[in-house]
Amino acid sequence: MASSVGILTGGGDCPGLNAVIRAVVRSSDAAGWDAVGVLEGWRGLVDGTFRDLGPPEVSGILPRGGTIIGTTRTNPFKLDGGVEKVLRNFADRGLDALVAIGGEDTLGVAARLYKEHGFPVIGVPKTIDNDLSGTDYTFGFDTAVTIATEAIDRLHTTAESHNRVMVVEVMGRHAGWIAVMSGIAGGADVILIPEQPVDFEAVAHGIRSRHARGKNFSIVVVSEGCELPGLEDTGERDQFGHVTLSHRGVGELLGREIEQRTGFETRVTVLGHVQRGGTPTSRDRVLATRYGLKAAELAQTGQFGQMAALRGDDIVAVSLEEATAELKTVPPEWYAVAQAFFG
Ligand code: F6P
Repeated sequence: MASSVGILTGGGDCPGLNAVIRAVVRSSDAAGWDAVGVLEGWRGLVDGTFRDLGPPEVSGILPRGGTIIGTTRTNPFKLDGGVEKVLRNFADRGLDALVAIGGEDTLGVAARLYKEHGFPVIGVPKTIDNDLSGTDYTFGFDTAVTIATEAIDRLHTTAESHNRVMVVEVMGRHAGWIAVMSGIAGGADVILIPEQPVDFEAVAHGIRSRHARGKNFSIVVVSEGCELPGLEDTGERDQFGHVTLSHRGVGELLGREIEQRTGFETRVTVLGHVQRGGTPTSRDRVLATRYGLKAAELAQTGQFGQMAALRGDDIVAVSLEEATAELKTVPPEWYAVAQAFFG
């Protein structure tokens, strides 16, 4: 009987997931392995829901956003008997290896299953937030930055025409990578990220002095995960304990503060899931494809507890434990690049 590799996508979806799935399936097929999609993240292993994947099933999915096998934020460690069900369903389906494609949460579960149960798992680093350690870049990030940059470019012309301040809220739960990169690329006048404390008066001062120099509009980019003075915790949490950020209203609060403090008319745009949907950039398609091939190779050679990673221009294997030990946040030297153009 042929060996079988399971493929799972967990956490928030992101452009390039289907490109990874395609690469794992094609590579497995070429090596004489069967591939099986685990449906809706870790929930598929808890519930035992699968779908066979061969070359016909992955034909044409390379440029498609989202994931053909679905995703959830299920955490088996938080469910009664969840881990036992994962192990049992994996064995009952006759799987020999699992490729888990995800961010800190999905890969955190993978790392724990490997460490505590010797579970034969390989990781692939996915997230538009780019906050996973062990890899230079996650796939999906380039697409999100491209979409956010285009939005900032569009907001520039309307801001300029109306003499307005435009606040752009971008995604980024714990790390401000999307805000910093799209803000630098789009020429933002202020960029606020979770790694840096926010002082409303300093923001207002920067905008006032810019306008005093004759610039009658400003672009402010803010990460949705920013801690703002006076912002209430909504109390909503997912199975990994994360606050539901979409209801916090970071952009709205910031916009109100700027308008009150400067007297300049201010509008707020929340980009939200537009940053995660649709077709991946060519850079993300290539990165996702390379990650998929590496993950399949690691599965076929039994190198478990590893994650495919980008180092420089090379795809290498790093330990899942190292990759999930701590988040990769924006270091001060990157923020300094953005700051050089503030005000
Ligand atoms: O983790 C990726 C991410 O897009 C974050 O940037 C964002 O905070 C979160 O997911 C949003 O999650 P959801 O799709 O569940 O609203």
